[in-house]
Amino acid sequence: MRFVHVVGVRPNFMKIAPIMSALGRHMDVEQLLVHTGQHYDARMSQVFFDDLDIPRPDVNLGLGSAQHESQTGTMMVALERLFTEVQPDCVVVVGDVNSTMAAALVSAKLGIMCAHVEAGLRSFDRSMPEEINRLVTDRVADLLLTPSADADENLSAEGVPETSIHRVGNVMIDTLLSHLDRAKQLPTLDAVGVEPGAYALVTLHRPSNVDDPVVLQSLLAALEWVQDRVAIVFPLHPRTRRRLEEFSLLERAAAMPNVDLTEPLGYLDFLALTASAKLVLTDSGGLQEETTVLGIPCLTLRSCTERPVTVSVGTNTVVGSDPQRIQAVVREILAGRGKTGSVPELWDGRASQRAADVLIDNLKHRSVHQG
Ligand code: UD1
Repeated sequence: MRFVHVVGVRPNFMKIAPIMSALGRHMDVEQLLVHTGQHYDARMSQVFFDDLDIPRPDVNLGLGSAQHESQTGTMMVALERLFTEVQPDCVVVVGDVNSTMAAALVSAKLGIMCAHVEAGLRSFDRSMPEEINRLVTDRVADLLLTPSADADENLSAEGVPETSIHRVGNVMIDTLLSHLDRAKQLPTLDAVGVEPGAYALVTLHRPSNVDDPVVLQSLLAALEWVQDRVAIVFPLHPRTRRRLEEFSLLERAAAMPNVDLTEPLGYLDFLALTASAKLVLTDSGGLQEETTVLGIPCLTLRSCTERPVTVSVGTNTVVGSDPQRIQAVVREILAGRGKTGSVPELWDGRASQRAADVLIDNLKHRSVHQG
């Protein structure tokens, strides 16, 4: 059974690591890891391979950044060549990024079985590039491995047959749980100069937040208010740093006395900071889930979430970019009235084992049917 796993960006690495390790425990499995190179800076890519002990990619297509449309097209050309040469029995894609959709489309066109891990999530906001990627990927993939019941419901409502939907849980949480102890032992908080439970962790990178100078300024104003009350650690995504520079806002951000603007951090350092934060403010998808499992209150700086279980069950509150709304929720958290929440079903550290079982069973079944 030859699996080809396609990854491209930071959050993909945390998702593919436990799946490859679970599949690796099965007999007769051959695995090839392909990195499109969508993320290429050492701090956005290499450091995750080191932290998570993932095998080096067998192939790095080195395609880099571009407009999303041409980036996706370039990936498809390269992946078509590769899949034709390698002849995988199954292509595994994770998440909702351009690399995910490109690989799913090429698999479908070549008639190769494609499995999408983290299927079924929907923000119902098609202005998000990720929502288009989710819709297209789920429409063409053969096996849809979902993290939560809402994802199953979304897929059923779109007419996906029940036999294609397999709820396995959240594979990214497998990685979190297996690395948490190691992360907590690191001297990250000392190095950054913060005390446990006495700082807010901030991340921003969505185009809707950082590519619009008005929204970005409004978020900066909110952070100015927050840092008067609690220290902030804010690792800057390259997209965000570039926009702050372009809009002449970097000086204003750097002038906040109680904010530590850092370079992007590795997986373990970032996990150490998340686990001990008083609160997290973010527009990331994965961080909404990680804070839910760690029991840390999270403010999602977007108008919607594709991960509603983090709101209904977990610690997440969707607040948008309005400073007043952000202030109201931060005030509650600092007063000790933050959301506590609980851990969603099947986010138990064994999702990738279940995913591997589904993949193997389906490949075996398929080969029996093909004679
Ligand atoms: C991508 C994903 C997003 C995911 C995020 C995680 C899509 C549509 N977006 O967004 O869903 O949440 O990754 O981080 O796939 N850049 C660098 N170095 C790098 C990578 C990027 O400097 O290693 C800069 C480039 O200027 C690039 C910009 O960041 O143009 C954006 O990168 P891109 O991969 O297009 O999207 P992200 O914003 O990272």
